[in-house]
Amino acid sequence: MTGFASREARAAFIAGLPKAELHLHIEGSLEPEMMFSLAQRNGVSLVFESVEAIRAAYDFSNLQDFLDIYYQGMAVLQAEQDFFDLTTAYLDRAATDGVRHVEIFFDPQGHTARGVPMANVVGGIARALTEAEERGITSQLIMCFLRHLPEADAEATLDAALPFLSLIHGVGLDSSEVGHPPEKFARVFARARSLGLKIVAHAGEEGPPDYVWQALDVLQVDRIDHGNRALEDAALVQRIVSDGLTLTVCPLSNLKLCVVDDLAQHPLRRMLAAGLRATVNSDDPAYFGGYVNANFVAVADALNLTRDEIITLARNSFTGSFLPPAEQAVHLAAIDSFVATY
Ligand code: HPA
Ligand code: ZN
Repeated sequence: MTGFASREARAAFIAGLPKAELHLHIEGSLEPEMMFSLAQRNGVSLVFESVEAIRAAYDFSNLQDFLDIYYQGMAVLQAEQDFFDLTTAYLDRAATDGVRHVEIFFDPQGHTARGVPMANVVGGIARALTEAEERGITSQLIMCFLRHLPEADAEATLDAALPFLSLIHGVGLDSSEVGHPPEKFARVFARARSLGLKIVAHAGEEGPPDYVWQALDVLQVDRIDHGNRALEDAALVQRIVSDGLTLTVCPLSNLKLCVVDDLAQHPLRRMLAAGLRATVNSDDPAYFGGYVNANFVAVADALNLTRDEIITLARNSFTGSFLPPAEQAVHLAAIDSFVATY
């Protein structure tokens, strides 16, 4: 028994649940329409002739296929206003999905390498986050290092971010995983931690369980992004459970990047059953076909998730956030009262 009369009833329940999103690359929320309009505004020429041609190109067979297009797309982002517009569009969209809190990744090296100042990037994103706070969505910003680049580039990026540290809550690790293990970034993450920043890392998306061990033991992560392949190692699962770490799982991303062949084989239920604190997130919604509720609905339909499993996922999104416990408690109470009226 799932506790719902129909799929539609389950989707309506998901839509109304208060939730947090903990794995969202702001550059991955760049919809083709905005890519086109920013290209015009900034005089950037795109290799694509139309919005339809862009969407048609979003057919990926692995992470690298996607990243090649993702880095091309972000070239339209230049001015502070561009980053503000991008972030505002995401926050407006997230609000319609019942998102109350977001922890947003950004990839400064994708911009500074093109000559865009760090101030444009952080300034525009942070201005949008401040405005959204007035509309009831809280947020934190997580700066990611691109793991296909040398650690020295990550060090320089952390240096460039020092004037903006009051706006940045944590650091993460993303981009091409295989061949770029977490230990490559041991020193820069140690420095970030000594600066008081939270630590997260993409691990076990395509990379082996050993990369998840390194994220834990070398980087000392506060949360794991994806973590799918941790399930291949029972001792690793035990370690993540006993440390109480949250996994930010991204079902439609996993499907589009061929991390899973079919959502019916998605490990989300197995993660919950193993005692892992899994959450549902959209990763790069403009590229993977859906925002957070679409991810919830797709995986809930494929796995026939129960009401209790869905509630657990929503609760995990707040308990796994970097919000202070008192604020988490307010959101958990909002989930309880939503559930009670249902
Ligand atoms: N994995 C690694 N790097 C990324 C991703 C992802 O899912 N999205 C944006 N950068
Ligand atoms: Zn990601």
